[in-house]
Amino acid sequence: MVKRIILFASGSGTNVENIIKYFKRNPRVEVVNVFTNNPKAGVIGLIRPMKIPVNVFDKAQLNNGLLNHEIALLKPDLIVLAGFLLKIPLGFITAFSNKIINIHPSLLPKHGGKGMYGDRVHQSVKYAGDKETGISIHFVNEHYDKGSIIFQAKTKIGEEDNIQHIANKVQQLEYKHYPEVIENLLFP
Ligand code: GAR
Repeated sequence: MVKRIILFASGSGTNVENIIKYFKRNPRVEVVNVFTNNPKAGVIGLIRPMKIPVNVFDKAQLNNGLLNHEIALLKPDLIVLAGFLLKIPLGFITAFSNKIINIHPSLLPKHGGKGMYGDRVHQSVKYAGDKETGISIHFVNEHYDKGSIIFQAKTKIGEEDNIQHIANKVQQLEYKHYPEVIENLLFP
């Protein structure tokens, strides 16, 4: 049976693009749809050549259950958040229990929580003087960045590393590991 994944993003969407490319060569996995809450998100233009349907929704639809209904009809095996910035409400989590995962650009529980995304996370790491950072892939529950951790990978950072260097190192870990972790969840 072909496994069906749905991707959620709010921003530039480079992880979404990377995941789509990775699974293009795997006939057992279909990226069914990409969902975004941001009509101006870079992800929309970035993946246009890939011919995967993109659905734009608003916060109200996420919170009032309309989106649950729409997504249930697509029968996803996994819902993958990649740079998705809205909080997932409990009703949505219950509807897709243990089927929603997220990637966070730090070694959780450090540098997570509300308002912690993108460069803000790397700034927090830098100002804390941490000697290492990394990625955390975790199941999503009703609290920001608090669901059980599936996978982490680390990278060292030195005093000479600025925010952009840290972001680049973390991004490389994301591209390398997120598709593989998704594949391992789909085919345990
Ligand atoms: C990624 O680094 C992801 O880990 C992060 O947003 C970036 C999205 O980049 N997510 C969070 O910070 C979630 N709290 P992309 O749009 O280029 O894939």
